[in-house]
Amino acid sequence: MTFKRTLGVCYYPEHWDEAQWAGDAARMAALGLTWVRIGEFAWSRMEPEPGRLDLGWLDRAIDTLGKAGLKVVLGTPTATPPRWMLAKHPDMLALDRDGRPRGFGSRRHYCFSHRGYRADCARIVTVLAERYGPNPHVAAWQTDNEYGCHDTVLSFSAAARDAFRDWLAQKYQSPQALNRAWGNVFWSMEYAAFDDIDLPNLTVTEPNPAHVMAFRQFASDQVAAFNRLQTDIIRRHSSSPIAHNYMGNVTEFDHFAVGADLDIASWDSYPLGFLSDRLAVSPEEKLRHLRQGDPDMQAFHHDLYRAVGRGRWWIMEQQPGPVNWAPWNADPLAGMARLWAWEAFAHGAEAVCYFRWRQAPFAQEQMHAGLLRPDSVAAPAHDEAAQVARELAALPDVATGPAPVALVFDYKSAWAWDTQPQGRDFSYFRLMLEMYKGLRRLGLSIDILPPDTADLSPYGLVLVPGMMTLPDSLLAALARHRGVAMVGPRSNSRTPDFAIPVPLPPNLPGLDCTVARVESLPPDACVPLQGGGAFRHWREKLEGTATVLDRAEDGVPALMDAGGLRYLGGWPDAVALDRYLRDACAKAGIATEPMPGSLRCRDSGGRRFYFNYGPGPVTHRGTTLGPAGVHWTEL
Ligand code: GAL
Repeated sequence: MTFKRTLGVCYYPEHWDEAQWAGDAARMAALGLTWVRIGEFAWSRMEPEPGRLDLGWLDRAIDTLGKAGLKVVLGTPTATPPRWMLAKHPDMLALDRDGRPRGFGSRRHYCFSHRGYRADCARIVTVLAERYGPNPHVAAWQTDNEYGCHDTVLSFSAAARDAFRDWLAQKYQSPQALNRAWGNVFWSMEYAAFDDIDLPNLTVTEPNPAHVMAFRQFASDQVAAFNRLQTDIIRRHSSSPIAHNYMGNVTEFDHFAVGADLDIASWDSYPLGFLSDRLAVSPEEKLRHLRQGDPDMQAFHHDLYRAVGRGRWWIMEQQPGPVNWAPWNADPLAGMARLWAWEAFAHGAEAVCYFRWRQAPFAQEQMHAGLLRPDSVAAPAHDEAAQVARELAALPDVATGPAPVALVFDYKSAWAWDTQPQGRDFSYFRLMLEMYKGLRRLGLSIDILPPDTADLSPYGLVLVPGMMTLPDSLLAALARHRGVAMVGPRSNSRTPDFAIPVPLPPNLPGLDCTVARVESLPPDACVPLQGGGAFRHWREKLEGTATVLDRAEDGVPALMDAGGLRYLGGWPDAVALDRYLRDACAKAGIATEPMPGSLRCRDSGGRRFYFNYGPGPVTHRGTTLGPAGVHWTEL
C-alpha cells in the first residue's frame, strides 16, 4: 500500500459564528490542507436535550468544508457527555482510587463499564453513522477522544466492580481456581464466591499483585469493548477508515487490542508539553530541548503507533505553538512545526493534523496556540504548515520498509512494573524509551513490535527489555532467530498469573543463564561494569554456563550470550547501553551512524532524513543543519 502524505487541522465549527465557516474553509484549502477533524466534543450541540437532535448545523459545517475541497474526519462525541446525561445516569461517573466521583465540568467524565452510558453512546454513534456514513465529504472517523487522558482508564465504581466480577467468573470459572492462581492462601485472602471480590483499592496495605494485574487487564478490555461498540456501528453504515487519537506515554490500556478494531492508529503529539510534563530526563536535557522537544519521544511514538496501526498511522493533533497544560509552556523554536511534521512523515505517517485551527479566546484552552491567533491573524505555525504543504509536492508518497532493528513493546509489562515496581522510580516506559534512545543515537531506524510477534526474521537485532511474561510465540521466534537478540532486564520473570516461574527466569531457549538474585537501587547508586558504564536502578545476579560478555566490577556476569541470544542482567546507563548496542550491531552486520549532539535520522522510502533537535547548528557528513533544520539524502 502506498499513501499520499497529507496535512490537516482540528476545527470546532460550534465554537465560531457560522458566518466564519466558509472563510475558514477557504483559508484551510489555500494553505494546502486536506483533512479537517470536527465533532469530537460537540454532543451538547448535537443533542441539546435527551432525544432532541439538532444536526442541521453539522450538516452545514460538513457541507461547507467539503465544498471547499476538504475531507472531514468526523469524531464521535462520547468523551464529553452533556450535563443531562448525568441526570439520566447519576452513577455513570468513574470513581477514583479513594472512591470519589470524577465529576462534571471538564471532559472524560464517564466509567467505561457503565451499561447505560454505553447504550447512549451506541445511540448517538448510530445517529451519526446513519446520517454521515453515506456523506462523500466524511472520509474518515475518529472514535471518542484520547482514551485514558486525565487518568481515566481505571474506575473504582460499582459498575466497574460488577463488570469485574463477571469478567473474573468468565476467566477463572470457579473461585477456587482463582484462589489457586492468585495464591490467595497468603494472608487468608481466599474467596468463596466471585461476588465477594472487590476492586483492589481501599485495602489496608498493598493488595495482591495478581488481583491488581487482573483488574488492569479487565480495565484495558473495557476500553477495547467500548471502542468496538462504536466501530461495529460505524462499519455498518460507512466504508471510510476509522481511527482513534491515542496519546504519548499512556500505557493504561493495551493499544494493540484497541487497534485491532481500527483501520488507522493516530496520536496527539505535543513535544514541548511532553518534555515539560512527563519525561524522566535530566534538567540539562530539558533546558537544551526546551523549544524543540525531546529528540526521541515523538519518534518513539511514531514507531509504536505504526505498529498499533499495522502500518497505517497519522498524527491527529500536532502542537502548533505553546500549549496550556504542561508545568511550563514554552514557545517552539521557529521551524519546529515543520520539523515535527517531517519527522512524522519520515516514520511513515499518512497525515499530520495540527491542533487547532484558531486559538479559542474562551474556556480551558484559551492559552493554547492554534494556526491562527484568536483575531484570525496567522500564527507562526500557519506559515510553517504552508511550507510543509509546498514541500510535500516534491515527496508525496509514504513508503516504509522494515527497519534493521526491532524493539518489542508490551502494555501488560507496563502494568506489571506499576504493580510491582520494586524500586520507587521504576517505569517500564522509561526503560523502553532509554533503549530506544540508545538505538537512535547510533543512527538506526527502528520498528516497534507487539508482544505476540511470531516472526523476527526481518530483523538483525531485536531487543526485549523488561517484558515480564514472554508468550510462547515470541519464545519460539527467539529460538528460530538468526540475528542477535538482547532480552532483559527483568524479562520473562513472571507467569501469566503473576507468580515467579520455576525454573527461574529468564528460562530462554538454548541459553543457560539464571537470574539468581535481584536488587533495586536508589537514584544515586550504581553497579559499575568491567567494560565501562554501570547498571542503575536495577541489577540482577546471573549464573549459568552461557558465554559471559560483560561482568560487573564484583565479577558477577552482567551480559550472557549463546549464539546471539543474549540476556542483560540490569538497567544499563547510556555508556554501557552504547557498548552493548554497538557490539550487537557489529555481530548482526548492521551499519551504525553515530549521531552528533541532538541530530537524529530516519530512513524512509530510499531516503535518510535528518532532524536537528539541538539549539545550535550541527555539522555531520559535510552538511550543516541549523536549529530545527531538516535535510534528506538519497540512500
Ligand atoms: C489533547 C486533546 C485536545 C486538546 C489538546 C490540547 O490532549 O485531545 O482536545 O485538549 O490536548 O493540547
